[in-house]
Amino acid sequence: MKVLVLGSGAGGGCPQWNCNCALCASARNGSRKIRPRTQSSIAVSPDGERWVLLNASPDIGQQLRTQPLLHPQKGLRDTPIKAVVLMDAQIDHATGLLSLREGPPIELYVTPCVFEDLTTGLPVLKVLEHYCGVHLHLLPVAGDQRLAEFPVEGFEGLRFRAIAIPGKAPPYSPHRHQPTVGDNIALEITELATGKRLFYAPGLGEVGPSEQAWMRDADCVLVDGTFWTEDEMVRAGLGSKFAADMGHLPQCATATRPGMMDALDQTGAKRKLLIHINNSNPILDDDGAERAELARRGIEVAHDGMEITL
Ligand code: MLT
Ligand code: MN
Ligand code: ZN
Repeated sequence: MKVLVLGSGAGGGCPQWNCNCALCASARNGSRKIRPRTQSSIAVSPDGERWVLLNASPDIGQQLRTQPLLHPQKGLRDTPIKAVVLMDAQIDHATGLLSLREGPPIELYVTPCVFEDLTTGLPVLKVLEHYCGVHLHLLPVAGDQRLAEFPVEGFEGLRFRAIAIPGKAPPYSPHRHQPTVGDNIALEITELATGKRLFYAPGLGEVGPSEQAWMRDADCVLVDGTFWTEDEMVRAGLGSKFAADMGHLPQCATATRPGMMDALDQTGAKRKLLIHINNSNPILDDDGAERAELARRGIEVAHDGMEITL
């Protein structure tokens, strides 16, 4: 199984268009080793030819232009992207669907909650009805059902499992203030022939016993790397929201909860990577002390264009 990191940044990417914080400024002027990052998305393939897109970033145009494996291969109009699975209905994960409107109907896999958000608060699916339209595949993660195994047409060699995880619905969601099963999912993808297993959760608000169990023996975990500390946005004067307000578990522990580094220390996963890195997060600096701390713990930071073979 092949994994391509198309976008490793959180909302806004890095540098963010209007941001002059120390990290964004350094990313622009090259004074520190900070790679540019587009907004959050990966693609997965059993053979390097047919790909499932996990999240559709507003930067998808740039991502597909710069990734030869995802260029059209044959015929006048073509794409190796055969299906799209969304982890949530956030702008950075869903609005790239609009940029796929020139293609065939999108084979789209979402939970009922995400479908609701994308037909009400952020009605991109209604807009797409006027273009390519979507073939909707609802993932039954709702109510008491926290886990759904589902097939993706044309990818019979892969087993997909959608898992309800703690997080937040987006600000424009009708249920923003009533956390609902299906607002946020993680995806486990297993290659049946080899048993290799990927756990992907770019937005993960908490790592409890069940998330810990999913990650335990994965061959690769790609999880929420948004923030280094709970209050970094507030401290840097970049905003008023804390990591918990946004449904993200920071890498560092707070007085009340362990951080993502502690959670990853406990997993036996073979590769541990952070993705969806916000432009306020000091781990963006390849030569920084925070990055050295991650390296010491065997944790990698995903970057755009990264290829992972499991
Ligand atoms: C989030 O995950 O909280 C987002 O990156 C916020 C955004 O897209 O503005
Ligand atoms: Mn995001
Ligand atoms: Zn910035």
